[in-house]
Amino acid sequence: MATPDPVDRMRPPGRPKGAYRSAKREGTTSAAGPPQGARPLGGAARSDVRGEHTSPSDPRVIVALDFASPMRALALADRLDPAACALKVGKEMFVVAGPEPVRWMVARGFRVFLDLKFHDIPNTVAQACAAAARLGVWMLNVHAAGGTAMLSAARTAVDAVAAEQGGPKPLLIAVTVLTSLGDADMRDTGMEGTAAQQALRLARLTAGSGLDGVVCSAQEAPALRTALGPRFKLVTPGIRPAGSVKDDQSRIITPQAAIANGADYLVIGRPITQAQDPVGALADINESLGAVP
Ligand code: C5P
Repeated sequence: MATPDPVDRMRPPGRPKGAYRSAKREGTTSAAGPPQGARPLGGAARSDVRGEHTSPSDPRVIVALDFASPMRALALADRLDPAACALKVGKEMFVVAGPEPVRWMVARGFRVFLDLKFHDIPNTVAQACAAAARLGVWMLNVHAAGGTAMLSAARTAVDAVAAEQGGPKPLLIAVTVLTSLGDADMRDTGMEGTAAQQALRLARLTAGSGLDGVVCSAQEAPALRTALGPRFKLVTPGIRPAGSVKDDQSRIITPQAAIANGADYLVIGRPITQAQDPVGALADINESLGAVP
């Protein structure tokens, strides 16, 4: 029996066998060419250094593709417009499917946030960040608790790959304190102060090490914006459009309120991925933010 082509296993449903691989070889991932409205392939959506949004039409929404099945993730991505959103790939899909779905999304013109939260000795994190940067991702992250040497090594590695490839520098951001942790967890793990104090301390360390921003709750955003200035990127999950279900999120905020609090990018999963009409749900959110697509 023929072994299934490992690359074609990433083929979104509805695409003919072989289309994904041949499209990749040719620099386009659609057998019929890029979809209408898509930006040029090869990361050309990122026209600026470190992928900063420079106009209101650049996407603020990062769709969290939290699917156990990479096929489902790619099928959804195939319906989305790179001009309307960035995409987030996390540990779950990466462990199952490896880098191939990320390459597919990048080649399709999407800004990809690779959310693998690296935390290890500086050399290991630097190598992992370099490998992520070589995938052409727009944003990647590490744990700020790895310390200054690890953060600086990550920054140096990412910048070296960008220089080597002549492309824009990926945004390198850090996780401060996981929002699943509270003040009692700080005490249990020997940290002084509250979780909010630790988050601010680690955000300062992140900025001091030359990273571009942090993942934070939109509630923390005003304090971090004040402390760290206008160019420090704030990436906020826990977003729910008015009237949508909370799921397992506890402290939620609307997209408009998150932006008003100073967030640069909004990580949104289920309100889009589980909607009956994901494309329409994303369009509604973008419209509520005054974005064009
Ligand atoms: O479906 P939902 O919009 O709740 O998904 C939010 C995304 O943001 C998920 O990928 C989740 O892992 C991530 N996230 C979060 N809270 C954090 C950090 C990340 O919900 N504090």
